[in-house]
Amino acid sequence: MATLMKRKTKTLIVIFIISVILSLKFPYEIEEEERARREKLEKEEKRFSVFLQRESATSSPGGVVSSSFELHGLEYDFYRQKCAQAESIVRSTMARIYLQQNDISFGLLRLLFHDCFIKGCDASVFLDDRNGNKNHSIERQAAPNKSLRGLDEIETIKEELDNACPGVVSCADTLALATRDAIVLAGGPFYPVFTGRRDSTESYFDEAMDEIPKPNDNITRTLFLFSRRGFDERETVNLLGAHNVGKINCDFIQNRFTNFSGTGQPDASIDPDFLNELRFACQDSNSTNDDGTVASMTSREMRNSSSAMIFQRLSASIPSGARFDNHYYQNLLRGRGLLFVDQQLMADENTARFVRGYASDDGTTFRRDFSRSMVKMSNTGVLTGTRGQVRNKCSLPSANLE
Ligand code: HEM
Ligand SMILES: *[C@@H]1O[C@H](CO)[C@@H](O)[C@H](O)[C@H]1NC(C)=O
Ligand SMILES: *[C@@H]1O[C@H](CO)[C@@H](O)[C@H](O)[C@H]1NC(C)=O
Ligand SMILES: *[C@@H]1O[C@H](CO)[C@@H](O)[C@H](O)[C@H]1NC(C)=O
Ligand SMILES: *[C@@H]1O[C@H](CO)[C@@H](O)[C@H](O)[C@H]1NC(C)=O
Ligand SMILES: *[C@@H]1O[C@H](CO)[C@@H](O)[C@H](O)[C@H]1NC(C)=O
Repeated sequence: MATLMKRKTKTLIVIFIISVILSLKFPYEIEEEERARREKLEKEEKRFSVFLQRESATSSPGGVVSSSFELHGLEYDFYRQKCAQAESIVRSTMARIYLQQNDISFGLLRLLFHDCFIKGCDASVFLDDRNGNKNHSIERQAAPNKSLRGLDEIETIKEELDNACPGVVSCADTLALATRDAIVLAGGPFYPVFTGRRDSTESYFDEAMDEIPKPNDNITRTLFLFSRRGFDERETVNLLGAHNVGKINCDFIQNRFTNFSGTGQPDASIDPDFLNELRFACQDSNSTNDDGTVASMTSREMRNSSSAMIFQRLSASIPSGARFDNHYYQNLLRGRGLLFVDQQLMADENTARFVRGYASDDGTTFRRDFSRSMVKMSNTGVLTGTRGQVRNKCSLPSANLE
């Protein structure tokens, strides 16, 4: 009797276990997975919404775009119904472009900054001077020496999107998503990009001339311009950390070498050894051939180009292959900032404190703050709902507004 009971219990237990396994595995498997995925996304979304709300509550009122980083109608995965594959199309096309041109990430990062800083992330930076606007009063012309890169690559991604879902995904969202993906491909930190941005119909040349900081601006001016966009000192120092990657045309630093702001002297804030290295690097490549390519290149950091380029990595005494690390800040501590505007972060006690903070660990703090700053920058002054339009070609406003 006792053995029978035991066997019965055993059987029951086995049946119970099997039924539990079956119920988990078969009927609900897909639903379960889907639910888990959504829950994860929602959690992520909530976490960042809370973060953004907290940030907006502590932001200084009275700025031009005082609550620029609120969601403003942006949503997590805005295209899930109208174009479910949108984000994966951006990701795969970006990956393909990156394979051919792995410095495109840095061009895009700068392009996003230029777009978002002028009237918000509305793809206004793409508009060109066709369509009757022949007077060159467009944002693209206002960027120092028209050196913005990545415009054509965004057009390529946008074409792929329009092949799959015609007229659905905006240029502004394409730029925001592609830049995030490009940063991740280049070894930078991931951050969530909310979508639903729409494109402006206008370009804003005067604002771009006035409100994009310049390479020789002093720290007072830089902090003023960033605060107008809702960024505090810490965020400004953090965003300038984007200069840990990419390249800089020698034109932008030439004036630091000899007669700096009419003083007759080189910029005193440059470390003297670094000054010589920079002079050498820029002078060396000044001997250009007739076709404009660089004649002699002693440094493999130099690139065939009509004018000399300095790479951010050159400013590190120990070149590390690492990207999106904190060598930018460590260099500033030693007077090795490439642009005057970079080195100026050491000229103000508050910003210098943040520089020292970012320089002091293994780069974790910089990267964590950078993902937050990028969320905030990507959400600056966006057009959502029925405002703006969804352009077909990013360089041209669409004729019929939706
Ligand atoms: C005070 C503000 C800033 C000034 C004056 C400034 C100025 C410049 C200049 C003059 C260049 C060289 C461009 C060239 O030679 O083609 C450059 C490059 C770059 N900037 Fe900035 N920048 C500022 C802030 C930012 C911010 C906030 C970001 C992004 C978050 C950023 C990202 C970049 C990147 C990634 C590059 C390299 C671009 C490439 O390799 O093509 N910059 N910046
Ligand atoms: C240039 O074009 C803009 C808008 O397209 C217009 O507001 C501005 O007055 C024009 N400037 C000149 C000098 O024509
Ligand atoms: C910083 O630059 C602005 C103009 O861009 C100028 O008015 C101001 O005097 C400068 N400040 C310092 C401390 O040099
Ligand atoms: C832009 O390029 C011109 C030459 O084409 C040069 O004289 C000027 O210094 C450059 N401007 C900047 C800000 O680099
Ligand atoms: C430096 O520049 C200023 C004005 O830009 C000029 O007056 C001065 O003569 C220059 N000095 C030298 C040594 O070239
Ligand atoms: C570069 O070359 C130009 C002439 O081609 C010259 O005027 C300029 O002084 C040179 N710059 C340097 C830094 O050697």
